[in-house]
Amino acid sequence: MRTLVVASQKGGVGKTTIAGHLAVMAESKGAGPVALIDTDPQGSLSSWWNERQAETPTFASVDIAHLADHLKQLEKAGVKLAIIDTPPAVTETIRKVLAVADVVLIPTRPSPHDLRAVGSTVELVEAAGKRMVFVINGAAQRAKITGEAAIALSQHGTVAPVTLYQRTDFAASMIDGRTAQEINFASRSAGEIEKLWIYVSTQLRRK
Ligand SMILES: Nc1ncnc2c1ncn2[C@@H]1O[C@H](COP(=O)(O)OP(=O)(O)OP(=O)(O)O)[C@@H](O)[C@H]1O
Ligand SMILES: [Mg+2]
Repeated sequence: MRTLVVASQKGGVGKTTIAGHLAVMAESKGAGPVALIDTDPQGSLSSWWNERQAETPTFASVDIAHLADHLKQLEKAGVKLAIIDTPPAVTETIRKVLAVADVVLIPTRPSPHDLRAVGSTVELVEAAGKRMVFVINGAAQRAKITGEAAIALSQHGTVAPVTLYQRTDFAASMIDGRTAQEINFASRSAGEIEKLWIYVSTQLRRK
């Protein structure tokens, strides 16, 4: 089993959106069974999952104090990929979650505020000694700042070779517990998530 942690100390960058979309994409690509874990007290990912009709991915309620044990149990139960959503804060929770990560995915919006705020997340991931991958989310079409953001982020670590654009279906699809690719598999959003999954899965396979 591999564990992907989606983290960013900055709020509203797309952690929950990306965790849900990647989990559904990973299942559809045969990388499952996938278990989703929500460590955010806001519970956005679990609320979304509760709206879902589909049976996969599964949802695992865990107690952070026993996270490593819970993950072992999931692995024994046959889970191949655990995706953990995290709260937008630098807390003890984040440290404990980072400790179990194989890869940490850090979504970042291409704005000066978001880029400046990324440092504290990077420090935490570096302190945990984990592999990190940035993904630019919520980009505007043809905006120069997207390329500039990628360059700025590449000073800290690897930037995924796919940008997620600002698209209504990323948000609207989640209202009733679905994802953009479940509304329209041929959509641009679905294509972006597919590319992101392919990249993240290669990072997860590296030891
Ligand atoms: N690429 C996108 N296009 C359009 N809307 C998006 C995109 N990514 C995220 N959103 C929307 O932006 C808002 C914040 O996204 P999300 O909740 O996934 O961020 P988050 O990092 O999990 O936030 P928090 O830090 O509060 O947990 C949501 O309303 C979501 O639907
Ligand atoms: Mg969230």
